[in-house]
Amino acid sequence: ESITMQEDAGFYFSTNIPTENIMKNPSFQARRDDILIVTYPKSGTHWMQAIVNLMVENVDDLSERYKQYQYHLEYTPHQVMDNAPSPRVICTHLPFERIPLDFLREKSRIVLCVRNPRDVAVSYFRFCANLKDIDYRGSFGGFFNLFITGKLPYNSWFDHVFSWLKVARSGRQNIHVVRYEDLKQGFLSTVSDLACYLKVDTSPELLEKIQKRTSFENMKLSLSDYLREMSINGQSVIFRKGTVGDWRNYFSPAQVTMLEDVMEEWGLHKNKSISFYDE
Ligand code: A3P
Repeated sequence: ESITMQEDAGFYFSTNIPTENIMKNPSFQARRDDILIVTYPKSGTHWMQAIVNLMVENVDDLSERYKQYQYHLEYTPHQVMDNAPSPRVICTHLPFERIPLDFLREKSRIVLCVRNPRDVAVSYFRFCANLKDIDYRGSFGGFFNLFITGKLPYNSWFDHVFSWLKVARSGRQNIHVVRYEDLKQGFLSTVSDLACYLKVDTSPELLEKIQKRTSFENMKLSLSDYLREMSINGQSVIFRKGTVGDWRNYFSPAQVTMLEDVMEEWGLHKNKSISFYDE
């Protein structure tokens, strides 16, 4: 059981991504007021993109601007981003080493969103099984092995997350880390910290409205035809369940232990699913 993808020097990426878009892109022009949302796939990218766009615009509805300008570093033609108004909110799944250097030179704002790797594994599995482009037919067990060994687009969760956490912790770049689980459990305080980092002025009232507007149910309702058409089952490939802990419905005891062993190798504490990156 495997997934068809491209490879560059051990880095795996989807077949529909132009190779130059995963190569540091020396010609990409970042802007100081860009906001780069960094995630491993299935860690809440769309949710964070909606939240940040609303915060930046200081509005409580997903405006035309949001619908038109959902930039993805690997997919959106660079010419489109070059001509886009500031501030641009751009998402990427690239590891730190493959980010266009200009983001670092410009000291653009960078938000790293992380989610419990166990839930990410399940979400990624369901995504690959439901996405027409990938059409993964294997079992969760087969997918779990790909997840553990990093034989997936964007390699392993660990390679990705630690490439960024290392930099965030070193203080080389001012990177703001947000956990999916914290957004779920303490939206308002998590998002007001984010507003501080982004230096956007938002009232507590507006943040409450943004919370309602970006709830799982509301975002699922405003699903675009584009996302629907990408799916095999006619449901959304993105808005599936939106909960914490769905992994318990999928993992065998042996898989729990296997993932815990890998987490421990990376310095993550055992049995602490919530503080999975705290040390
Ligand atoms: P599940 O598959 O566990 O449901 P990404 O946007 O990075 O592809 O992440 C998709 C995951 O985020 C999916 O997880 C999806 O349901 C969840 N998600 C998307 N919007 C959400 C929201 N508004 N609130 C909570 N979870 C959300």
